[in-house]
Amino acid sequence: MLAPILRCASPDSWLERALSDVDTLLHDHAHCEQKAASTMLSLVFRQPDPELAVQLSRMAREELGHFEMVLREMKRRGVVFGKLEPARYAAELSRGARKKDPREAMLDSFVISALIEARSAERMELLAHAVPDPALRSLYQSFRPAEERHWQLMLELGATFGDPLERLPYFAGREAELIRNGEPWVRMHA
Ligand SMILES: [Fe+2]
Ligand SMILES: [Fe+2]
Repeated sequence: MLAPILRCASPDSWLERALSDVDTLLHDHAHCEQKAASTMLSLVFRQPDPELAVQLSRMAREELGHFEMVLREMKRRGVVFGKLEPARYAAELSRGARKKDPREAMLDSFVISALIEARSAERMELLAHAVPDPALRSLYQSFRPAEERHWQLMLELGATFGDPLERLPYFAGREAELIRNGEPWVRMHA
């Protein structure tokens, strides 16, 4: 199911490409989980509120858990973890964030993370139904509820710094544009 904060579904061409090279998709996925953990950790460092920091810390650990699970699956398939050029998606989304005012910057970080998590949840579900390998299918299936919970948590925590709904239209528009004009590579967020 498409999260209500997303403006468009993933194009069929993305799934077709993803299924054509599941090993590269997994490799990129490992990098995405690693990046998600690092983004959450950087938010922990910027939190004056310990309650908020604890929730983000938990999420960082959960993303690291996902990273380890993807690495295990890569090992099972004989895929070696190394360098891989990321899709421009996350960097392009972040380029739209405000930087001067710390509260505005924080609000934008949470809104961007919410959209990335929502897109991940959508794609995990698509993969959980389409991938032929049953072990891989259940791996994607097991990730989906967490990513679903993550986008909701990001909006909830973002509300500490302002109204996420005020920034959502702007970033959701950018996100949809990036998804519609995705790069022709096999990447989780291409
Ligand atoms: Fe994750
Ligand atoms: Fe996540």
